[in-house]
Amino acid sequence: MKKVDPSLRQKIQPSRRRTPRLVATEGLPNPTEYVLALQGEFRDWALDEVRAQSAKGKWREVFGVSPEAPMDLEIGTGNGYFFAHQAGIAKERSLLGLEIKFKPLIQSIRRARRAGLTNARICRYDASCLEDLFASNELDNVFIHHPDPWPRQRDHKHRLIQTEFLDNLWTLMKPGSEVSFKTDSEDYFDWTLPLVNQSKFNLLYSTRDLHHSDWANQNFVTHFEQIFLAKGQPIFYCRFQKN
Ligand SMILES: C[S@@+](CC[C@H](N)C(=O)[O-])C[C@H]1O[C@@H](n2cnc3c(N)ncnc32)[C@H](O)[C@@H]1O
Repeated sequence: MKKVDPSLRQKIQPSRRRTPRLVATEGLPNPTEYVLALQGEFRDWALDEVRAQSAKGKWREVFGVSPEAPMDLEIGTGNGYFFAHQAGIAKERSLLGLEIKFKPLIQSIRRARRAGLTNARICRYDASCLEDLFASNELDNVFIHHPDPWPRQRDHKHRLIQTEFLDNLWTLMKPGSEVSFKTDSEDYFDWTLPLVNQSKFNLLYSTRDLHHSDWANQNFVTHFEQIFLAKGQPIFYCRFQKN
């Protein structure tokens, strides 16, 4: 087979490495109450982007649990109703939240702390760069609920679910662990399913109407889900696994 000139390969397959879309927390000129809470009141429970990067490969030390203990991740916690609920029903597991915005980040960790939960932590980061935060096989189950849909075609590149994202996520998860994905956007669901099918994940289940499906009675209605349910819109849901 003809060898490809490495310099040419670079041109054909430019590095798709993303850089996080974040401004540094430290030194923000007019810190809001949420920024101050991240740096102060919740410092032991919430990590800014710099501390989050330093935790890569060491998250179970952050939680103070054994290296074998299960640790799940929720991406985009919003105001944290599911985050606190999930940490509360699975106290034997650690739950890390990942949020890019300061206000929902603090709302989420505050909700968990007010419920007296000690198995929840949250960090500020851009979820499209998960490989900055986690080592291979570091994560157990992952929850992605109502990610920003970016409905306009020209913005689809900003959607969280991309081929590269799924490749990275697969590497960072432990064999046997599962991703739970739901969205109110049919278009985003139709974008996601083929990408999952093309990825190394194994699609376990999918439904175009979660609330009239086998999973309805196990489902926790998130804040965004409630808004779309109230409008009578169906919720699209799937689960996929790293074998
Ligand atoms: C539409 S809300 C859904 C919140 C919640 N999961 C729910 O179902 O109610 C999406 C959340 O994801 C967060 N988010 C968006 N892009 C993100 C990213 N790249 N990294 C981390 N969080 C992100 C937003 O700040 C927002 O809180």
